[in-house]
Amino acid sequence: MAYNLLKGKKGIIFGALNDMSIAWKVAEKAHEEGARFVLTNTPMALRLGDTHHLAKATDAIIVPADATSIPDLENVFTKTLEHFGGKIDFILHSIGMSPNVRKKIPYDSLSYENYLKTMDISAISFHKVIQTAKKFDALNEWGSIVALSYVAAQRTLYEYNDMADAKAALESIARSFGYIYGREKHIRINTISQSPTLTTAGSGVKGIGGLMDFTERMSPLGNATADECADYCLTLFSDLTRKVTMQNLFNDGGFSSMGMSARAMEMYNKSLDCRDCHDHPDFCNTEAGSSDDNK
Ligand SMILES: NC(=O)c1ccc[n+]([C@@H]2O[C@H](COP(=O)([O-])OP(=O)(O)OC[C@H]3O[C@@H](n4cnc5c(N)ncnc54)[C@H](O)[C@@H]3O)[C@@H](O)[C@H]2O)c1
Repeated sequence: MAYNLLKGKKGIIFGALNDMSIAWKVAEKAHEEGARFVLTNTPMALRLGDTHHLAKATDAIIVPADATSIPDLENVFTKTLEHFGGKIDFILHSIGMSPNVRKKIPYDSLSYENYLKTMDISAISFHKVIQTAKKFDALNEWGSIVALSYVAAQRTLYEYNDMADAKAALESIARSFGYIYGREKHIRINTISQSPTLTTAGSGVKGIGGLMDFTERMSPLGNATADECADYCLTLFSDLTRKVTMQNLFNDGGFSSMGMSARAMEMYNKSLDCRDCHDHPDFCNTEAGSSDDNK
């Protein structure tokens, strides 16, 4: 159901690769809500992905850009301002990539060349996008910028590797630039910390299936889907959230506030060797241990 939340608003959406991408869902829903936008991604992603289908369906133009390249970003803003004949209202940064994760190099043997690329693509590109937007004075007052993050910025999660450092930097950039851009132009900058989601980037995280099962069991509301993430993004682009800025906002079904849930504990207990159950009957749900069914 559409609410016309973004009627008359214009923006730039970075990172829609295929119909699993979170940015893809944001573009579809922003279109439904009356927004117009420019889509951008790397030339290689545009060659290999399906972005042109999305552009057709949402009446958008595509401007290729590697988000780590300032000349490419300047071109995106020049073309966008020309296309709309004026300023824009929102930007989505939905970009992440770690060559260390991709090559399965563990955190205690990182390639520093790769590490710098992870930071540049997944975090510093956010600074570059915002700084370029500001240089071009591209955003209307009360405009909104959103990037996508993950709880590994706050807590250590097995196998998330150097992306955790990139997400911590990304969230910090939202706060640091949020102060400056808010003070000077009333522009909001926030990050949304999303549940694990089965996308091309998400599938690169080792053990994503088990991780998604664990977070589903741990979250009272269950994992948030890409569609639900898109819904949250739209509220932040809308005029309903004009005083929300410099925040990292969790869209994770409650996962980030949990320590242990009954559903996760049940699964953990099932996996315990029965000898352990005899040693620690209070923590055991099998017949050999406690029969306490309270969840
Ligand atoms: N999928 C998850 O589990 C999950 C969870 C939390 C946060 N996120 C974040 O959501 C965002 C979107 O990821 P997704 O899950 O939709 O996966 P995705 O693979 O669909 O999107 C990642 C995008 O980044 C783009 N990209 C990579 N390098 C780039 C560069 N140099 N310049 C411009 N674009 C570049 C890719 O082409 C791709 O479109 C990322 O920031 C990701 O870290 C994902």
